Amino acid sequence: MDIAAWLLSLGLQQYEPAFRENDIEADTLPQLTADDLVALGVISIGHRRKLLAAIDALRARSDTAAISTTRSMAAVPGPAPPPAEAERRQLTVMFVDVVGSTALAGRLDPEDMREVIGTYHRCVAETVGRYGGFVAKYMGDGVLVYFGWPQADEADPERAVRAALATLEKVGQAAPAGERLVARIGIASGLAVVGDLLGAGAAQEQTVIGETPNLAARLQSLADPGSAVIDAQTRRRIGGLFECHELGEFRLKGLSGAVYAWEVLGEAMVESRFAAMHGASLPPLVGRDDELELLLRRWQQAKDGEGQVVLISGDPGIGKSRLIAALEERVAGEAHLRLKYFCSPHHLDSALQPIIARWQNDAGFVRSESADARLDKLEALLLPLGATPPLALSPERKKEQTFGALNRILDERARRSPVLILFEDAHWADPSSLELLDRLIMRLASLPVMVIISFRPEFHA
Ligand SMILES: Nc1ncnc2c1ncn2[C@@H]1O[C@H](COP(=O)(O)OP(=O)(O)O)[C@@H](O)[C@H]1O
Ligand SMILES: [Mg+2]
Repeated sequence: MDIAAWLLSLGLQQYEPAFRENDIEADTLPQLTADDLVALGVISIGHRRKLLAAIDALRARSDTAAISTTRSMAAVPGPAPPPAEAERRQLTVMFVDVVGSTALAGRLDPEDMREVIGTYHRCVAETVGRYGGFVAKYMGDGVLVYFGWPQADEADPERAVRAALATLEKVGQAAPAGERLVARIGIASGLAVVGDLLGAGAAQEQTVIGETPNLAARLQSLADPGSAVIDAQTRRRIGGLFECHELGEFRLKGLSGAVYAWEVLGEAMVESRFAAMHGASLPPLVGRDDELELLLRRWQQAKDGEGQVVLISGDPGIGKSRLIAALEERVAGEAHLRLKYFCSPHHLDSALQPIIARWQNDAGFVRSESADARLDKLEALLLPLGATPPLALSPERKKEQTFGALNRILDERARRSPVLILFEDAHWADPSSLELLDRLIMRLASLPVMVIISFRPEFHA
């Protein structure tokens, strides 16, 4: 594919030098994100949207091509022809293996062992499936999983890491009575040849071809039992969403050059997804003067005691979080309390998750501390604010009590300084959080509080 011609067809040929100088080629083009486009100098939002739409169309086309190959191959009896559409594309590959299965096989009879492996395979398939993983192949007790097939997504590495943590936890349940089953996992992101996936017979034997699947398998062998190890690209693309421990530099069989590896310790307690993915330094805000002025005017009204609600709706990547970050920068020097809540696609059904995450953060929870230690921290934080310890109540009463306490805490805080509440990505909010938000909005009028809620257009506030 000719990138210059593609840009020309979109009327955006002015970006051709930037694409060329940054080595954007046909295989990397479908993976470009809104961030990449900003980095390439595509500052105009209109141009960015146009490019993203065209990139989506490219992806859709290559998916259709891949799927139609499967169909035509299924119709051909006998040995399948090599896939016509074998293509290099961006994938996150996960390799799961069981530790000590040879020893286990020595203790169990073959029939029982087969059953254990079957249960374990189903457990892995079910768990990774929940995070959008595609089981490409079972290899003995190893399982090869692809994230980003048939549809690549910016969040593939994040989903793979979440799936790995869930799998490590779940695999133990597949163990027969009196035995332990422990997995270890390697994850790598990069190019892979997807045609292999679609092959049958001999072609399928070659599934583990290309550096990325190979790297995932090798990283798996570095992992301690019960842990997951990831490569540099996966590490970069998960930003600050997970806590990782750097394992250092390795030379691995069959791979050229040194490889850096990290062990995933668990989900990080992050301020916001936006901050986790962007770090501290943001590129300067481009445009948005009117929107920012409007927010500042509303903030002034809120500070004067007239509570305000501002809804920011827009497609992903349009700049909702960036605008909110700009407001935060502008008010940073003022005395106020800022409360940030963010919803995540991974906690759709978890009641009050954004609010709970906020409290955990404020209380200063750290990984691997006991429940008692956490309770102490929470009490130290909440009791001075007038909250009472939980009682044995019905769920409905408990909710009322929780809502009541949260309201009182907010009133108390708003008496001391104006409060800026940022509630991001409400399209992913759980029902209880939305109810809490509704109630807050109802009683906002006379409080020095501004609530900003961001969401995608498909969500109806
Ligand atoms: N006005 C802008 N100026 C500079 N960068 C922007 C602007 N709007 C968006 N961006 C960048 O584009 C990317 C996507 O924006 P983001 O705020 O995360 O979108 P949303 O929250 O609507 O999904 C981010 O990297 C952001 O920094
Ligand atoms: Mg956002």
